[in-house]
Amino acid sequence: MTAFNIIKSLTRRGNVVVGSGCYAAAIGSNDPNNIIKIGNSITDPWLDYYHLVIKLNQGNPHVPKVKYFMCDAEHNYYICIMERLENEGWNPVVELCKDYTTRMITREEFVNIAKLHSEAIPCANTLANILDKIHNHTEVFEREYTNEFDVDSRLLDMHAGNFMYRDGVVVVTDPWCENDMSDLVDVSDWVDRSLYKTTSTSW
Ligand SMILES: Nc1ncnc2c1ncn2[C@@H]1O[C@H](COP(=O)(O)OP(=O)(O)O)[C@@H](O)[C@H]1O
Ligand SMILES: [Mg+2]
Repeated sequence: MTAFNIIKSLTRRGNVVVGSGCYAAAIGSNDPNNIIKIGNSITDPWLDYYHLVIKLNQGNPHVPKVKYFMCDAEHNYYICIMERLENEGWNPVVELCKDYTTRMITREEFVNIAKLHSEAIPCANTLANILDKIHNHTEVFEREYTNEFDVDSRLLDMHAGNFMYRDGVVVVTDPWCENDMSDLVDVSDWVDRSLYKTTSTSW
């Protein structure tokens, strides 16, 4: 519950929740260029993404730029301050990235199709390099095969909410979830139910 207490105290100080998902909430920082991501479980495969891809590829425009990271295993939460990115309602490159990550299309096909999206993908090989790393560390590629894998296997979770934009350039923010998430307290449900209820009565 530590993550929820941190989220609560930040919002009481006036910081705004700018987005939330199953594992984490993104909260506006005092610096408008950054957000504070608070993760509610250290089983979140985003931690693998951070260690295996984000941290090692800070010069690649298709991963988020991280300013600060800490993980507290004892209290089961993590905090990451990273650049603030934009959501797009309709995201034309998600299916393309998913098709390449799952090897439905070749790298050559990916590069050719990416030319149609040159604002989001200014250099297709740079994005393909990130998608290759994601491919190499993905354990379950399709939800229909989840039964064949351990509960904590990394399941590919490429949908529009897990891709964001920096000045029009696509950034892969959160490519995996756990194969089985049934034990999880969903952070976005908690934000909707508890956070807004408690803050509106205490203000
Ligand atoms: N860098 C960011 N800038 C702005 N909002 C973000 C950023 N990262 C995440 N978010 C918001 O927080 C939500 C949850 O973050 P995400 O990394 O997808 O975690 P989860 O594992 O909970 O899905 C996203 O859907 C998005 O709305
Ligand atoms: Mg997400």
